Amino acid sequence: MIRFARAADAAAIAAIYNQGIADRGATFETEPRTEADLLERLSNVERYPLMVAEDAAGRVLGWAGLSSYRPRECYAGIAEFSIYLDREARGRGVGRSLLSGLIEVAAQRGFWKLVSRVFPLNAASRALCRACGFREVGTYEKHARLDGEWLDVIIVELSLHTQTPQ
Ligand SMILES: CC(C)(COP(=O)(O)OP(=O)(O)OC[C@H]1O[C@@H](n2cnc3c(N)ncnc32)[C@H](O)[C@@H]1OP(=O)(O)O)[C@@H](O)C(=O)NCCC(=O)NCCS
Repeated sequence: MIRFARAADAAAIAAIYNQGIADRGATFETEPRTEADLLERLSNVERYPLMVAEDAAGRVLGWAGLSSYRPRECYAGIAEFSIYLDREARGRGVGRSLLSGLIEVAAQRGFWKLVSRVFPLNAASRALCRACGFREVGTYEKHARLDGEWLDVIIVELSLHTQTPQ
C-alpha cells in the first residue's frame, strides 16, 4: 500500500535512508539521518509530500518524497524527488508503485516538473526512472566527491505539464 508518511514513520524512514547512504550507490550524502531529522522534514509535507510503501503487516518498505529545487519563485513548480527502499524490498515493483504514487500527488499539487540526479552505475534507479517516464537530460561530469572520488551524475526530468491542473 502506498500512503502519506506520518510522524510515527520517521524512525523507519531514517533507517531506510541510512541503508541507502551506507550503500554509497545513490547519494553523495555520507551523514546518517536521525529520527529527529525526519520529523523536521515531515513538518513540511504540505509543501513537499513524503510517501511510504508498506506491506500487509504495516512495515514500511520504502519512502519517496519531494524537496525544494531552487528557492527562486519562478521555479516554485519544480521539485526534486528522492526514493529509497529497504534492501530487502528492492527489485519487486515496490519502487515503481511508490514513485508512480508520488508523481500523481505532485501533479495534483500543481508541480509542473520533477527532477533528480542519478549515479550512472545506479542501474535500478535509471531503470525505475525510465519506467516512470523520466528523460535523461545529460550528465554533470565530476559533480561532487563521494569518499574522495569524483563522480558523474545523470540529470533526469519528468514534465507534468499534461497532468498538472491548469
Ligand atoms: C532505485 C530503487 C528505488 C528502485 O526501486 P525497486 O523497487 O528496486 O524497482 P522496481 O522493482 O519497481 O523496478 C522498476 C524498474 O527498474 C527495473 N530494475 C529494478 N532493479 C533493477 C536493477 N538492479 N537493474 C536493472 N533494472 C532494474 C525493473 O525491471 C523495473 O523496470 P520495468 O518496470 O521496465 O520492468 C531501489 O532499488 C532502491 O531503493 N535502491 C537504493 C536507493 C536508490 O538508489 N535510490 C535512488 C536514488 S536516485
